[in-house]
Amino acid sequence: MGGSRGSYYLALKQINKLANSAFGLRKICNSIAKSAAKTVAANGCRILLLDTQKEYLITVGAHGLSDLYLRKGPLDGRKSLPDILEGRVVFIADATKDERVQHPEVAQAQGISSILGVPILNKGEAKGEIRIYTREPCQFSDADKSFLLSVADICAVLLERAELYQLVEKDYKVSKKRIKSAQASQLPTASLRPTSFAHPSEEEFAKWLDFYRMEWLYEPRSFPLQWKGDEVAEMFTPDFYLPELDLYVELTTLKQNLITEKNRKMRQLKELYPEINIRLLNKGDYLQLLAKYGYGPLGEAKVKGVDQVLYSHTQIQRRVRALARRISHDYAGQQLVLVGILKGVVCFMADLMQHLSLPVTLDFMAISYYSGDGQAVKITRDLDSSITGQHVLMVEDIVDTGMTLNYVLRHLSSHNPASLRVCTLLDKRARRLVNIPLDYIGFEIPDEFIVGYGLDYKGEYRNLPFIGILHPELIREGGL
Ligand code: IMP
Ligand code: MG
Repeated sequence: MGGSRGSYYLALKQINKLANSAFGLRKICNSIAKSAAKTVAANGCRILLLDTQKEYLITVGAHGLSDLYLRKGPLDGRKSLPDILEGRVVFIADATKDERVQHPEVAQAQGISSILGVPILNKGEAKGEIRIYTREPCQFSDADKSFLLSVADICAVLLERAELYQLVEKDYKVSKKRIKSAQASQLPTASLRPTSFAHPSEEEFAKWLDFYRMEWLYEPRSFPLQWKGDEVAEMFTPDFYLPELDLYVELTTLKQNLITEKNRKMRQLKELYPEINIRLLNKGDYLQLLAKYGYGPLGEAKVKGVDQVLYSHTQIQRRVRALARRISHDYAGQQLVLVGILKGVVCFMADLMQHLSLPVTLDFMAISYYSGDGQAVKITRDLDSSITGQHVLMVEDIVDTGMTLNYVLRHLSSHNPASLRVCTLLDKRARRLVNIPLDYIGFEIPDEFIVGYGLDYKGEYRNLPFIGILHPELIREGGL
């Protein structure tokens, strides 16, 4: 790929000029992204800035990428190609298959093949990244890489200057309350855990989000709404940003005059920033919102007896997709029989199989646990079809002592399958009695009693869309 020496020079000249122009940061970064992408003959580019907590990467400029791709939310800097923030240049040949990519399914849907990422370093410290995207799989030359590192150097100076500029913006004619957030204008100086909230309802909302393991940022960004000449005369700072949903949330009190004012600001915001997803919520609304995304029964403060959500719906889905990718890769070109034990595995099995890109068949067994006649487990429902000579993947919801799995595996191997492996969503390793090698593990969990996503306590809780820890006292008391 890439350009000639002349084209690198011309591009750098243009980018330098842009960086020194009077345009706003976003416009400058969009233009730099365009110029960089064109120069290395790529289809897209974006410039990402690390927030002050050094956790999230937020897009400050982009070119050639669809709204959908940009809207998948800030990237988690620790999960998405973390080597770049370590100061390294990272090349991904196939973004749809690489474990280092945080949203490979989005990359696939967007037709993105290769990604090249370079760090934006300021005094040796990573401030952000430039990423280059191509639709066709490709390689980049050393000249391309060194060109992009030069662009990154320009961005480092640009971003530092913008940051200084934000501090000067204190003089902006914004209301006193907003001065603090005015510093955050355009630049995400987000704090994940503020020491204080402006209003108790915000704190309550944050606790709610924590309970459901939904990531959030508090007042991460201010949006200028009105200008007097070059100066920002009015800004709007939404209370929360939920990266998983790519959604800004503004909470409202019930005072009607405030709601009217907020509605006006919301309308202006939507006009000026149509790409932004924002919702104005009162308490009833946010309970509904969480319910819509599958978080907990509506109307009850929390799920009865569940103290803590261990894995949210989104976290489970992400993990299940990653497992399915590995399994599809390992069994490529083969036919697979998935065997599950009823009933706990239903949610996991249903989600897992939908993401397998293999021909699969399904079979189920049911067992009953009883004691008294010397046997621990009894098969009450056996397989429908023969597994002799077949590749079998035993799918389990949870492996605890390992007794069940041990018994079932012995039964399955007696039918001489071609291969027999185990995939479990949860591994409660601390309580293991029988050591069975587990080939695919979703999450290793602590020694707690878990419910939800198929798992029950006395037949209940299976329908929760998340995995939660049941209050230990409930189990000791033997009921609710
Ligand atoms: P094991 O035989 O001890 O490995 O566990 C077998 C079965 O016990 C699992 O398939 C589950 O049905 C059930 N089980 C174990 N731990 C839990 C839990 O924390 N919550 C719900 N069911 C569990
Ligand atoms: Mg089970």
